[in-house]
Amino acid sequence: MSNRSLAKNHADTTVLVTGGAGFIGSHTCVELLEQGYRVVVADDLSNSNSEALNRIRVITGVNDDQLTFYKANILDAQAMNRVFDENPIDAIIHFAGFKAVGESVVKPLEYYWNNITGTLTLCKVAREHGVKNLIFSSSATVYGDPEFIPITEDCPKHNATNPYGQTKSMIEQVLTDLYVGDTEWNIVLLRYFNPIGAHESGLIGEDPKGIPNNLVPYTARVAVGQLPYVHVYGADYDTPDGTGVRDYIHVMDLARGHVMTLDWMGGACGTGVATTLGTIAGIPDADGSRHGVEIFNLGTGTGSSVLDVIHAFGTACGRELPYRIEPRRAGDIATNYAACDKARDELGWVARYDLKRMCEDSWRWQSKNPDGYRS
Ligand code: WQD
Repeated sequence: MSNRSLAKNHADTTVLVTGGAGFIGSHTCVELLEQGYRVVVADDLSNSNSEALNRIRVITGVNDDQLTFYKANILDAQAMNRVFDENPIDAIIHFAGFKAVGESVVKPLEYYWNNITGTLTLCKVAREHGVKNLIFSSSATVYGDPEFIPITEDCPKHNATNPYGQTKSMIEQVLTDLYVGDTEWNIVLLRYFNPIGAHESGLIGEDPKGIPNNLVPYTARVAVGQLPYVHVYGADYDTPDGTGVRDYIHVMDLARGHVMTLDWMGGACGTGVATTLGTIAGIPDADGSRHGVEIFNLGTGTGSSVLDVIHAFGTACGRELPYRIEPRRAGDIATNYAACDKARDELGWVARYDLKRMCEDSWRWQSKNPDGYRS
């Protein structure tokens, strides 16, 4: 069965967002709806809250015709078939998956089963419905300890240091092989660096369950007084202040990157089909939509240290935040930030927000919702 064309108006295009109630998914739904797309969300709410959907409706003012929600797990083929039977899905943005690095080390079977088998099930159902336009939520973690900095898309992939990262890398391979076997597929792998921040309204944001693993949500909990101090994992790295350096990117910049990718997949923007090593880009179809497998790094190209983040968050919340220097965390690397030229040249996308704005928006979300969506 041939693929749906994306070379049409946003208002005539329906996008399935798996994991759309989650952190990056919910922000991407806001951007999609504000750009006129019709959105269908499938989320099993295992690591998210349906309140996020209510907040999306408040932010965008859309009705149920424009935003439809299914409580569904991508492993459930019957439920996913119902989603495709009941909605004219044109494209999929696939976020759904377990994503806690530390948890994946102690629960590898659950991570491989949920993330990989779930993706296989999703792709099988999509293909049966003639839908082969897919954006995959990948991660810079697939580069492992990168061979060079800043990281370009053709930087060799190295073994991720945890099952979570391995699932991202393996799913990239699955999707690449899907295209090699059937050139109707139109796939983009978006490799995020470190997504942080929140929508400027403070109505949606990052809401990890339990004690956050990641730096910014942990720091936010310290700022609201729920945790006593920030643990700084290592101050003896070969970096300007000795603490780990990462490429933090505002979640709304990331959301905008997904919408611009959809336009690109439909044949808009871009300077042609020039491709870098490691990706396969076909020629756009007669109607302009593309086919192939393309990779884009979504980052800012700027590295910030742990102490940079702690100080920026202190400025945002109006007080210096307490921290303690501790030994390095197993599996961490010293430095990681993106080269973003390809996304700029091909998609016309550039990150707009700096660390100051990311922390301001994160603080607004956390201070208005000290217990996340549960409050
Ligand atoms: C950032 C820096 C830590 C917590 C991971 C995943 C990646 C992506 C983002 C999903 C490091 C230091 C952290 C703390 C600290 N997730 N740190 N104290 O490890 O770069 O990336 O999350 O896509 O795939 O790998 O993010 O926020 O955990 O760590 O000092 O309490 O902060 O050592 O230098 P990371 P992070």
